[in-house]
Amino acid sequence: MVAIGLGLLAVSGLYNVAATRPHFRPVDHLIKFALRRSISLHSLGVLLPDLTDPALAQLGREHFATGCAPCHSQPGHARHPIARGMLPSPPRLEGAASRWETRELFWIVRHGLKFTGMPAWTGRDRDDEVWAVVAYLQRMPHDDDTVPAREKRTPALGFGIDEPSPLARCAACHGDGRRRPVHASVPVLHGQKEGYLARALSEYHDGRRQSGIMEPLAAVLSAEDIGRIARHFAEADRPAAVARPGDARVARGRRIFREGVPRQELPACRSCHAPETSAQFPLLDGLSGHYVEAQLGLFRSGVRSGTTHGRIMSVIAERLSPEQIADIAAFLDSGGERAPVPAEARREGE
Ligand code: HEC
Ligand code: HEC
Ligand code: HEC
Repeated sequence: MVAIGLGLLAVSGLYNVAATRPHFRPVDHLIKFALRRSISLHSLGVLLPDLTDPALAQLGREHFATGCAPCHSQPGHARHPIARGMLPSPPRLEGAASRWETRELFWIVRHGLKFTGMPAWTGRDRDDEVWAVVAYLQRMPHDDDTVPAREKRTPALGFGIDEPSPLARCAACHGDGRRRPVHASVPVLHGQKEGYLARALSEYHDGRRQSGIMEPLAAVLSAEDIGRIARHFAEADRPAAVARPGDARVARGRRIFREGVPRQELPACRSCHAPETSAQFPLLDGLSGHYVEAQLGLFRSGVRSGTTHGRIMSVIAERLSPEQIADIAAFLDSGGERAPVPAEARREGE
């Protein structure tokens, strides 16, 4: 009976879908209830990582400012009048962490909400990136009500870079050459090879390299912007490595980096990743161990193997064991080739 009734209502065209008219109360309650149940059920299998690192929330905040605030606004800012006209209208998120469990927040941001305008995360297979935003939602400060409404700015409704110079936006996450990147999952760009930087940006631009953080930022850049930005960073000095004394793990990593592992048909990383090789082979010096480990994981799982260069590196990454990856990450984290060589490695070497 109910189904026939609903069918007749749909056929008649009488139900008003205007965004100016809220649903009938019972319909509204039913939709909200169904939404809650669905999110609660589908997020059951989500495993929570450690979200206590304040730097992770800081990275989330930087993404939020251009990826979420156009719709949801952000603390100290007003809501955009056009976003207010959506139905359902994207709510302010200062209280989201008290409305939803952590796994539910992850699920909403990762998958989006059908029929509401809430989009899914851009990097299709980049669940790892979503956690930074969840960490921020958990620490989001309360809206500053002391600022009078007429003094509040409204975030621009365009996604991506809202500053006159795109470079100021890049520095917020990538650092300025002296200041380190905001979190270990963000690579250093200063002193990287120009050809590699330009290609990485155009791959994010066309969606060939997945990242829910970088794709929207690169999408708004023109080919000229990309060329100019790549040149700017390539001409900058590489930040000084924080060279730390190594241990046995670092020594093993150094060996793989410089000599490879012939019995695994693993070439020396240095044979490609060095200043004098092709401009398409990035320098690894100065990258954090965390970033290196994460990217090697993406090459292994195929998420970063959609391009010609990605495939070259995927073949190599697949030959590395998890221990070897941890060794190489430790070596690069200790300052790479600029780190003092531990006594153990000096004895083993040559
Ligand atoms: C194009 C506009 C838009 C963008 C961009 C957007 N959202 Fe949403 N969001 C919505 C809408 C619409 C809803 C649904 C509100 C509802 O169902 O009542 C929503 C709902 C949510 C909710 C559930 C809110 C609640 O408490 O009920 C969360 C959490 C959320 N969004 C987080 C985010 C985050 C984080 C980002 C950025 C990564 C983001 N959203 C980007 C439009 C947007
Ligand atoms: C909200 C933080 C954030 C902002 C702002 C940002 N980036 Fe990124 N960037 C990242 C993260 C995170 C990654 C790693 C993405 C991945 O895993 O592929 C990245 C990766 C990159 C890479 C790839 C480097 C490599 O070694 O492969 C380039 C190039 C890059 N960003 C350029 C830029 C430029 C240019 C800007 C400014 C227009 C910018 N980024 C702004 C967070 C940011
Ligand atoms: C035959 C040449 C070659 C060798 C040998 C090689 N790589 Fe690569 N590597 C590449 C290329 C090409 C890329 C760029 C892939 C892309 O653009 O997606 C790359 C990218 C990377 C990246 C991502 C850097 C960034 O900024 O995002 C890491 C990490 C990496 N390689 C680690 C290693 C390690 C560790 C080894 C040694 C075990 C190694 N590579 C050996 C060619 C090589």
